[in-house]
Amino acid sequence: MITPTNFYQPGLPTAEQLANWANAYFPADAAAPLTAAAAPALDTVAGLSPTAFSPEYAPTSAPVSHNEWRKDFPILNERVNGGKPLVWLDNAATTQRPRQVIERLSYYYQHENSNVHRGAHELAARSTNAYEAARQKVADFIGAPSARNIVWVRGTTEGINLVAQAFVRPRLQAGDEIILTELEHHANIVPWQLVAAATGAVLRVAPINDAGEIILSAYENLFTPRTKFVAVAHVSNALGTITPVAELTAIAHRHGAPILVDGAQSVAHLPVNVAALGVDWFVFSGHKIFGPTGIGAVYGTDAGLKAAEPYQGGGNMIADVTFEKTQYQEYPAKFEAGTGNIADAVGLGAALDYVNAVGREKIAAYEHQLLGYTLEKLRGVKGLRIIGTAKEKASVAAFVLDRHSVEATGKFLSARGIALRAGHHCAQPAHRRFGLEGSVRPSIAFYNTREEIDFLVNALHELVRTINN
Ligand SMILES: Cc1ncc(COP(=O)(O)O)c(C=O)c1O
Repeated sequence: MITPTNFYQPGLPTAEQLANWANAYFPADAAAPLTAAAAPALDTVAGLSPTAFSPEYAPTSAPVSHNEWRKDFPILNERVNGGKPLVWLDNAATTQRPRQVIERLSYYYQHENSNVHRGAHELAARSTNAYEAARQKVADFIGAPSARNIVWVRGTTEGINLVAQAFVRPRLQAGDEIILTELEHHANIVPWQLVAAATGAVLRVAPINDAGEIILSAYENLFTPRTKFVAVAHVSNALGTITPVAELTAIAHRHGAPILVDGAQSVAHLPVNVAALGVDWFVFSGHKIFGPTGIGAVYGTDAGLKAAEPYQGGGNMIADVTFEKTQYQEYPAKFEAGTGNIADAVGLGAALDYVNAVGREKIAAYEHQLLGYTLEKLRGVKGLRIIGTAKEKASVAAFVLDRHSVEATGKFLSARGIALRAGHHCAQPAHRRFGLEGSVRPSIAFYNTREEIDFLVNALHELVRTINN
């Protein structure tokens, strides 16, 4: 149900905008157009499902065909599969890189390359400056109080493993509990199984409803005095659900449990502020936000980072070493053993600069419209079922098609130049919740256009016709 309260969340459309959308989308109602004053009661209009009026799905009449950002992404001009223009709808797997990032990497290797922190020469100073400036950019980008709260890692997976091993594992005893949810990526399941197996702790899983939303009452009911930690995705990579992180965090904290948020699928699509959300840990991957592969970041609170123990040892993370004893550096260095991925950290900094220059609110608003358009168009394909119909969604429009396997659909689309995922997307429990082993997953970014969505949908109509004839 849409209620006035969830209608008016900050950043979501106003009642006036919703009324405009409704009027544009249901021309049958043109004789009695909806007014802003009536908008809060829209879900009661006969014959209209709440989903159709959800802000996440509300279509708009504004043309969104022009896209000024595509020119920054050289790879979007590629031709594939015998000369077909590439339609990149696999953004949840990885995003493409703008030339600003590609050029920054090239500049680094041509003018700055050196190991960091230790060298007594100018290039060491240049690379250290670039590396630490990128750390500051990450902190600013996600609203962390300081660059000291940012640890470089290879990506979300390594970040979750770091928190699991360095912070959670030393605090667990047999019978302690960790809460996850049913919509998690395997990267936010398996690391917790490893610490559970090592300590005798137990995983408890909050269920999702038929729309793919976490059932908050069931989540809260899982907490017991033995709950030691919570780990949850901000956006589901399989269903697109945006989870209510602030609320999940408040509940966890009420029960004395710290929380980790897997931001792999949120940072590129939603403005994120870790301080405002109140989370204890936040992790994301550079390659999901137009940055290089092999680089990502962990945000931790000062208390969390101070309490966590190093889980890998080596150079860079030490203050003093003898054969008897090692003194560690302060955080974040104590978690960064060995030479880091310096160039790609710098490249990630450039990606965040790029996203800031485009404007995060602008990206979210554009994608919000494009996702609404995508979902509405997909619904028009005969025998297509959308998987994940949460009111709050980002980027992902997964579906299955009657009488067509996920794999065959993916192949058919790939032959037309459309790149997307067909499979379980490393979220088997989330799929099994819907009785599925996989889905076809277009996932959008701000450089995608309505024309690309039309192209996808027309290809699906064609596929359906082939079998039905
Ligand atoms: C929600 C979520 N968490 C974690 C990951 C793992 O990210 P990475 O492979 O970059 O470590 C992904 C990747 O798809 C994801 O979508």
